[in-house]
Amino acid sequence: MGFDAIDRRGTGALKWDDTLRRFGREDVLPLWVADMDFAAPQIVREALQTRLDHPVYGYTLFGERFFEAIRWWYAERFDWKIDREWIVPDHGVVVSINTAITALTNAGDGIMIQTPIYPPFMTAVEANKRILLENRLHYFEGRYTVDWDDFESKAREARMFLLCSPHNPTTRVWHPEELQRMARICRDNDVIIVADEIHSDIVYDRPHLPIGRLSEAQEITLTLHAPSKTFNIAGLNTSYAIIPNSAWRAAYQKRYDQIGLSQGNPFGIAALEAAYTPEGAAWLTDLMEVLRDNIAFVRSYLAEHLPRIVPVETEATFLNWLDFRALGLDDAETEALVFDRAGLALNPGTSFGEAGSGFMRLNIGTSRTILRRALTQLKKAVKGQA
Ligand SMILES: Cc1ncc(COP(=O)(O)O)c(C=O)c1O
Repeated sequence: MGFDAIDRRGTGALKWDDTLRRFGREDVLPLWVADMDFAAPQIVREALQTRLDHPVYGYTLFGERFFEAIRWWYAERFDWKIDREWIVPDHGVVVSINTAITALTNAGDGIMIQTPIYPPFMTAVEANKRILLENRLHYFEGRYTVDWDDFESKAREARMFLLCSPHNPTTRVWHPEELQRMARICRDNDVIIVADEIHSDIVYDRPHLPIGRLSEAQEITLTLHAPSKTFNIAGLNTSYAIIPNSAWRAAYQKRYDQIGLSQGNPFGIAALEAAYTPEGAAWLTDLMEVLRDNIAFVRSYLAEHLPRIVPVETEATFLNWLDFRALGLDDAETEALVFDRAGLALNPGTSFGEAGSGFMRLNIGTSRTILRRALTQLKKAVKGQA
């Protein structure tokens, strides 16, 4: 099955089957929400089949194999030896963000985020009636960096910092020095770090450093991760938090039990245990080759045919963050160009906050054929409006 795009229409796929409602037409090419059009690894599908073959799907424990698989993955990929007891299984990273916010902060507390940002970071803060503290990333000559003066001043007002590492949508893989600086400022200001590291397995040129591995951050960080993006199994709703601080872990666990999240999904558990293995890691190596090629293809196509659409360097993920500003359009006009005239469903930059104005996010986790079609449609639309 390899890395061909699979026809997902009619499977209830959010990406493919919800375009009429979201984008006003059924025939747009969907390159938006962050899952891929590729089959999950063979080893994962076999594990799911084995679990399916046992015909009772009752309440299911997160067993020792689940915890051991996560510990193995962290030691192997991130050189971080985590204790069994630090791991709290969960049902999705967004669930964990909300659980952390409600367990460890109070209404009216400040929570810092770095915009442009994955939209649920903003909605989680606002829906839980906390104060959103926006530390806008600084964009200069194709690169995003932290505005440190602003970071320090917002940290003084914050109780929590929602870190996205690697960062969606800019794809920044934070340098160790940047993470150390964030950790020190948070520690000095009593700020809890919630590190969403869901994209940390797909990094291209630099290793990912979990901020919680830093000695100055370990006791103040909740690390959130899942095999969902990496192995294309987001629909199985299985994730976990790593919480070394025992008091915070107890508070988190209590909140989690109150909501009724204590048991697992038997399929999500089986998939994680199969994915976090040497076979899963080998599949990931192959996937990354395909993604690298797709990123290079998009870059060279844009450079040749659409030089006014500039891709920000993709340091991580299967998402490309594209700068449309040189076209001289406002956001509504850019959306009309992309959605209506090019027939493409991309994520509009402003959905990541005002700081995303002028940009669009393109998901390259699909076949070359679909990507080529998408870029050809975009080229025609841009030429048509010139
Ligand atoms: C940064 C980030 N966090 C969390 C999620 C979603 O995680 P989950 O499906 O586990 O809630 C996504 C999905 O796009 C994401 O990009």
